[in-house]
Amino acid sequence: MSSDPLVIFTPSGKRGHFPVGTPVLTAARQLGVDLDSVCGGRGICSKCQITPSYGEFSKHGVTVADDALSEWNKVEQRYKDKRGLIDGRRLGCQAQVQGDVVIDVPPESQVHRQVVRKRAEARDITMNPSTRLFYVEVEEPDMHKPSGDMERLVEALEAQWQLKGVKTDLHILQGLQPALRKGKWKVTVAVHLGDENQPPKIMHIWPGYYDGTLYGLAVDLGSTTIAAHLCDLKSGEVVASSGIMNPQIRFGEDLMSRVSYSMMNTGGDQEMTRAVRDGMNALFTQIATEAAIDQSLIVDAVFVCNPVMHHLFLGIDPFELGQAPFALATSDALSLQARELDLNIHPAARVYLLPCIAGHVGADAAAVALSEAPDKSEDLVLVVDVGTNAEILLGNKDKVLACSSPTGPAFEGAQISSGQRAAPGAIERLEINPETKEPRFRVIGSDIWSDETGFDAAIATTGITGICGSGINEAIAEMRMAGVLDASGLIGSAEQTGTARCIEDGRTNAYLVWDGSAEGGPRITITNPDIRAIQMAKAALYSGARLLMDKFHVETVDRVVLAGAFGAHISSKHAMVLGMIPDCPLDKVTSAGNAAGTGARIALLNTKARREIEETVAASRRSKLRSSRVFRSILSMPRPFPTRKNPSQFWPQ
Ligand code: FES
Repeated sequence: MSSDPLVIFTPSGKRGHFPVGTPVLTAARQLGVDLDSVCGGRGICSKCQITPSYGEFSKHGVTVADDALSEWNKVEQRYKDKRGLIDGRRLGCQAQVQGDVVIDVPPESQVHRQVVRKRAEARDITMNPSTRLFYVEVEEPDMHKPSGDMERLVEALEAQWQLKGVKTDLHILQGLQPALRKGKWKVTVAVHLGDENQPPKIMHIWPGYYDGTLYGLAVDLGSTTIAAHLCDLKSGEVVASSGIMNPQIRFGEDLMSRVSYSMMNTGGDQEMTRAVRDGMNALFTQIATEAAIDQSLIVDAVFVCNPVMHHLFLGIDPFELGQAPFALATSDALSLQARELDLNIHPAARVYLLPCIAGHVGADAAAVALSEAPDKSEDLVLVVDVGTNAEILLGNKDKVLACSSPTGPAFEGAQISSGQRAAPGAIERLEINPETKEPRFRVIGSDIWSDETGFDAAIATTGITGICGSGINEAIAEMRMAGVLDASGLIGSAEQTGTARCIEDGRTNAYLVWDGSAEGGPRITITNPDIRAIQMAKAALYSGARLLMDKFHVETVDRVVLAGAFGAHISSKHAMVLGMIPDCPLDKVTSAGNAAGTGARIALLNTKARREIEETVAASRRSKLRSSRVFRSILSMPRPFPTRKNPSQFWPQ
């Protein structure tokens, strides 16, 4: 047995014997312990902070003496004076092993730290970003050893950081010589670490030691909205989030209308490409301003989108996606440069697009799979990402199937008589008293219900302007539960329902939610065409789920995850009353928020997850679902309310 001191690292549990005088950073590296360093042990970056523990450790079978590490040195003192160091912390590159010791590596000193996600069932994100900072000392030029500054920088990166075959671009070469001389041959470089298909590449260079942060963007490019999260590539934290309406809306509300716009108008696809890229750049400027950072520090970006958005963003005519067999120009993941897409971030920034599953199942579904991990689930889980288009995944650890369903914009309040987008003034929650058939509601911008004191004052500035997606769904579900609406989807008359809120509307009836006409405001009603629009949308949603269940030969699923901005707002009860989702115990229906956006964030922060989803998608493609006649015939039938087999849970027979 070695007589050298025993070094035990926590939380990894890795241990080994090292000669007296070994720096803790060296011991960590030799054991493969995840301990960060940007300066390579030169006492500049402080990324290598560790916490030694002293005393008896019966669990590890060691006693750690007070002098187990070398004495506090000048470099540590200088750092503490300048920047501060938590009491008990040491710099791993300065502290040397003197005796048996137990050393904790705090999360902020771990390169591959876990970013904890809030939801209990969600997996944490392991940090493994594409781009990292490296501080290097470069040999000065010598008349007797002719070689370029770049070659010596590349050699230094290999010798000091084991980065092999590092490449660069012209823009780095243009700034290289001044940076090296200004930094007295010491520079910090941001290196994109590459993968099996591409070598590591220098993205940026700073003279001396650069103590700043690199950023990345996770972008969910939806048909209706574009949402972006700006993330710190070191800590994984979301520094700022922002969103805009997709400027392509002016060319058509839904995907197919945008495809037809490009078919009917020469150059229409290019017009839409320009619109979405301009919108994206405006969003990036907005988010960088909000976070008070220089946009050129954004070195990586991940995009998730449906196939039509994917093609239009890339500048590919989506013509083929408008007709069977829905051929994609490419379904593989793409790694591009930001400048190829005219994006105003770092000129050499990388852009990664998740793979598409099929011609009508996009990278957004892949992102949902990454976020919700149905492929790791023991039980059979149905993941429904509801938006203008619904992405539906069904599976467990043995197999995952995916499909996309054209729900249209009704769920988001469009094509609804009093519908509007979710904005202040829109009714977002609604309840109907089953006895009196009277509604009470809440509008966006206020937490007070319409029958509570203070409501009028609370909505004085916004007014009541319409009803948004979650509001219309709750309204219809509540109408059904209150007996105002029959199972086929017809609104009863005042006589049939016993409420004057049911009013004649042509040859059918409508339910009056709010009448603001006396004050010049809107009259908000739910009409039979509204019910029909929601019936069609939920038919599309339900049919997609049903199709996948048929492929699995199952009648029920173990649990349901509702995702998407809209999925986050509709209650599981209302979703089930409307028959949007198949039978499942209510307590097994959970909400995942913006799963596609989270998937983009995971892919941004962990490059290993990119490989993982590429493999999952490849496996899913092997059992892919094509658009079928069965699907279309189900779609064309309006669905009764509810689709559940046992509706008595919600209202009397
Ligand atoms: S490794 Fe940079 S200060 Fe220790």
